[in-house]
Amino acid sequence: MQIELEVNGETETFEASKSDSLLDVLRANGYTGAKRGCDTGACGFCTVHVDGDPTLSCVTPVTKAEGASVETIEGLGEQDDLHPVQQAFVDNTALQCGFCIPGMIMRSKALLDENPDPTEQEVREALSDNLCRCTGYKKIVEAVLDAADRMDVDRA
Ligand code: FES
Repeated sequence: MQIELEVNGETETFEASKSDSLLDVLRANGYTGAKRGCDTGACGFCTVHVDGDPTLSCVTPVTKAEGASVETIEGLGEQDDLHPVQQAFVDNTALQCGFCIPGMIMRSKALLDENPDPTEQEVREALSDNLCRCTGYKKIVEAVLDAADRMDVDRA
């Protein structure tokens, strides 16, 4: 079947089968920033935004995303013009193997969109469904708090 999705602001028609997840279709069409970890909704590596909400794309049928606005990590920033959340992760060296980072960043951005000045506890709670297999949580939390400060300056 063919399905029309809006991904990162562009509407495209994709080939898909009815049983495909949103992650299947994204990854098959070059949006490989969303990672496939558990494929069962348990790790958060595949987190993207659907209508602004952090969403586990591995357990989201692609048909549910039809007509919605999907945002992936590729839509956030460019290599030489990163989104403040991405830049904060880089500057805080908040990554080890990096596999969880796209999902962490998408989850963090959703948090900051909703709560621009989170406490450390709120950051930890927001990220609690996103696993880091290197267990590098401390720097990730620091990066999100730093991103909040940067975005606050940007808004001033
Ligand atoms: Fe989707 Fe793990 S790959 S939650």
